[in-house]
Amino acid sequence: MAGIAIVGLQWGDEGKGKITDFFSSKADCVVRYQGGNNAGHTVVVGEKSYKFHLIPSGVIQGKKVVIANGVVVCPKTLIEEIDMLHSHGIEPDLMVSDRAHVIMPYHRILDGAEEELLGKKKIGTTKRGIGPCYTDKIARYGIRMVDIIDEKRLKEKLDIVIPIKQRIFDSYGLGKIDEEKILREYVEYGKKLEKYVGDTIYFLNSIIDEKDIIFEGAQGFLLDIDYGTYPYTTSSNPVAGGICNGAGISPKKIERIIGVMKAYVTRVGMGAMPTEEKGGEGNHMAEKGHEYGTTTGRKRRCGWLDLVAAKYAVMVNDVDEIALTKLDVLDGLKKVKVCIGYEYDDDVIEKFPSAIDVLEKCRPVYEELDGWDGSCGKKKYEDLPANAKKYIDFISEWLNKPVGIISTGAGREDTILL
Ligand code: GDP
Ligand code: IMO
Ligand code: MG
Repeated sequence: MAGIAIVGLQWGDEGKGKITDFFSSKADCVVRYQGGNNAGHTVVVGEKSYKFHLIPSGVIQGKKVVIANGVVVCPKTLIEEIDMLHSHGIEPDLMVSDRAHVIMPYHRILDGAEEELLGKKKIGTTKRGIGPCYTDKIARYGIRMVDIIDEKRLKEKLDIVIPIKQRIFDSYGLGKIDEEKILREYVEYGKKLEKYVGDTIYFLNSIIDEKDIIFEGAQGFLLDIDYGTYPYTTSSNPVAGGICNGAGISPKKIERIIGVMKAYVTRVGMGAMPTEEKGGEGNHMAEKGHEYGTTTGRKRRCGWLDLVAAKYAVMVNDVDEIALTKLDVLDGLKKVKVCIGYEYDDDVIEKFPSAIDVLEKCRPVYEELDGWDGSCGKKKYEDLPANAKKYIDFISEWLNKPVGIISTGAGREDTILL
């Protein structure tokens, strides 16, 4: 009888999908509350590997899954994901918010055009149209799920938004937008998805006092539009507080917050990353951790665990515990480093800066610890190498939070619960 938040504390890809799947066995319902198909959550169960962009990872455990109002939905991706589940013999018990905004073809095109215009300052987005879709939401001419299931309503909405978009397209030299083609395409999507669309706000509030609901974050705290490394962020609020807006849930209903954190850091796309290791150890992490994006296939940038950023993330999310993932990826390194401060302008700072040009100039101050080997696949805390335990203790003490879950492999069973 609780809301449980599972949120990423870094730049995404912390293993939220795996941790959500693990806890879903005991939950009744799993909810996505922000982001869109920029997310890529991989869940490995036995020989099978599932990749989700929109549907909450709890679907594999046969749980009710909800795409709430704060998500931006690409209907084509959603239909493909439902088809993928059918091919695995899974019939998703899915509900999609009628208020969720819909990603339109012009959003994807504008995402690409804006990136091109930014040139060297580009964000390195997933080009899924996420930013432009949230822009329309805030500008109040977005298209919502409730519109695509009603042809007349959709036509009225398109008649308003297409002339605005056409002006922008003209200024970029992007050609003519075919309103009729979009109308036909999205009416078809609407027909396929209609049976899943409903009022998720009333639904979630009707069950939250009786059932366990997991809120599965997408992206991570450092990509949050308000708290992240702006402007190198996404356009939504992955932070635990984002659940309230993104799912229509009171803050009083979130009883447990699990912060998912890799034993090192990765980042896809551009933007400062003080502990990035371009050489040897960074390559070790990338190769051993298979750090290639689930959504775009891009190689993820890798680096040492950044406890300045983590402390900031832990503070704002006020996590109850940390799920430390991919500990096994550090196996085999003689020494491991953790960043405990930033050198900036002859000073050492411990606060995560708000200005990106300051963060770009920050140099990490490291604590070096002895490495270990053989944590891979361990299922009991006692079986972990002594130096790996020291590493976990160091993190826990520094952040003043318990590490409650340790992940030592991609598989569901490679998980230690403390
Ligand atoms: P998410 O976006 O936060 O759900 O994370 P991703 O799924 O994009 O990236 C995490 C990747 O690491 C996936 O391929 C997982 O299967 C894998 N993974 C998760 N936990 C572990 C772990 O403890 N060890 C290893 N080696 N892989 C893991
Ligand atoms: P999951 O849920 C990692 C990054 C992009 C880019 C920035 C903005 O799998 O952790 P966007 O397309 O959102 O406008 O891109 O955010 N990004 C992610 N990086 N994991 C993700 O999701 C991401 N979703 C977006 O690479 O830097
Ligand atoms: Mg991912």
